[in-house]
Amino acid sequence: MKLGAIQMSAKAFSLSFCIPAAFLLIFAHPNNPTTSFLGALLDLSTPSSPFNLLKVDYLFNLYRRRGAYNPPCNDFPPYFPPLCDDFPPYFPPDTEATSIFCVDPNGCCDFTTVQSAVDAVPRYSGKRNVLWINKGIYFEKVTVPATKPNITFQGQGFDLTAIMWNDTANSSHGTFYSASVSVFATGFVAKNISFMNVAPIPRPGDVGAQAVAIRIGGDQAAFWGCGFLGAQDTLHDDRGRHYFKECFIQGSIDFIFGDARSLYENCRLISIADPVPAGVRTITGSVTAQARESNQDNTGYSFVNCSIGGTGRIWLGRAWRPYSRVVFAYTSMSDIIASDGWNDWNDPSRDQNVFYGEYKCTGDGANLADRVPYALKLSDVQALPYLNTSYIDGDQWLKPYCDSLVSPW
Ligand SMILES: *[C@@H]1O[C@H](CO)[C@@H](O)[C@H](O)[C@H]1NC(C)=O
Ligand SMILES: *[C@@H]1O[C@H](CO)[C@@H](O)[C@H](O)[C@H]1NC(C)=O
Ligand SMILES: *[C@@H]1O[C@H](CO)[C@@H](O)[C@H](O)[C@H]1NC(C)=O
Ligand SMILES: *[C@@H]1O[C@H](CO)[C@@H](O)[C@H](O)[C@H]1NC(C)=O
Ligand SMILES: *[C@@H]1O[C@H](CO)[C@@H](O)[C@H](O)[C@H]1NC(C)=O
Ligand SMILES: *[C@@H]1O[C@H](CO)[C@@H](O)[C@H](O)[C@H]1NC(C)=O
Repeated sequence: MKLGAIQMSAKAFSLSFCIPAAFLLIFAHPNNPTTSFLGALLDLSTPSSPFNLLKVDYLFNLYRRRGAYNPPCNDFPPYFPPLCDDFPPYFPPDTEATSIFCVDPNGCCDFTTVQSAVDAVPRYSGKRNVLWINKGIYFEKVTVPATKPNITFQGQGFDLTAIMWNDTANSSHGTFYSASVSVFATGFVAKNISFMNVAPIPRPGDVGAQAVAIRIGGDQAAFWGCGFLGAQDTLHDDRGRHYFKECFIQGSIDFIFGDARSLYENCRLISIADPVPAGVRTITGSVTAQARESNQDNTGYSFVNCSIGGTGRIWLGRAWRPYSRVVFAYTSMSDIIASDGWNDWNDPSRDQNVFYGEYKCTGDGANLADRVPYALKLSDVQALPYLNTSYIDGDQWLKPYCDSLVSPW
């Protein structure tokens, strides 16, 4: 393991301003999408959210490495413990089945960026290639190309390891290209890491401000304990069969969208859509915009044992494409869910074709009395295909991933 810490001396610091360190760190990073990142921290400071736990000292470390930290006046001379002192892991040697690539923003191991580690993975590797990504914030836009199957991103906790960027539909020639992380490979796995887009939260009427945190365009992708944070269009659940377990998903408008076939188990869905005053019926967001195109397609989203909370008045889903299919089962819904529940994207011809089902959900938002006429209260038989990993053919591909959860490799 190599030590990449940059030597620094207290003399190098200018002490002309007394600004609290945390404030300065957030606002002075050269790539940092400043106000929106702070905005994200503030917006997330509700009890439902874990992100107030994001430790500013990771930014501090990042900053220190670049030699631009300006300590507050009462912190002089500054004490800098050796950067890699608490660097944790022992890595087992590579095997026939597994290779490990170590990423640390402070240079404590081989790679300082996630993309450089992805680039180092051999094309069409038959092995599982685990990127062990240390705690920290990675300000970069990352692509996992179709030529790099079988990659795992192993973070240290979704509140401790995050990849973030701030492209929008406008800044990247379209929503689909705005993702902070884009995955086109099969067999992608992520554990205990967050994917964030920290572009400014769109204001009502804004055009081109959609900002995707991750686009998942490869088959057989699985996520355990991950965070997906953004506002409009957070999680582009684009195509292929995908599994999400115990994830935290934050957004406002259409925050899970695309044409994949996905199972979400035990996930927390947090809306940051604009709050609506009591008595006003405006809709300010939607959890899903599933894009099933025809009745020949077997795509759709199934949510099992999830919870929905946060702000706004939102739909469970709206029909981005005519045969949109979404099921919520055993899910608790707060009163932010609009009583009509679902929307046909202002195209009544879709009412006959969408499949919008609810099964044994609970909470103030789960009352079916005022639902749109095409919403389905599923019977036991109707619900059965959506309730476990069989929905995504888990027996064909998911089991080895689950088994490998007992070992971090
Ligand atoms: C992203 O953040 C950088 C640095 O703050 C800023 O210059 C850029 O305009 C931001 N991009 C968008 C699309 O907001
Ligand atoms: C790697 O990917 C190939 C092709 O996608 C697949 O056949 C193989 O089983 C994968 N190996 C591992 C270890 O995931
Ligand atoms: C995620 O992190 C938690 C807390 O550190 C740990 O208990 C769990 O085993 C980790 N899970 C995975 C899949 O890495
Ligand atoms: C996106 O670009 C369009 C056309 O240039 C512009 O009218 C709009 O204000 C931009 N949106 C944002 C959020 O900057
Ligand atoms: C449902 O989700 C909660 C919260 O994640 C979890 O504690 C519980 O074990 C889950 N129940 C089942 C049956 O998986
Ligand atoms: C999922 O449910 C189906 C229908 O009840 C059942 O046949 C199948 O064995 C279950 N699969 C798993 C992995 O539990």
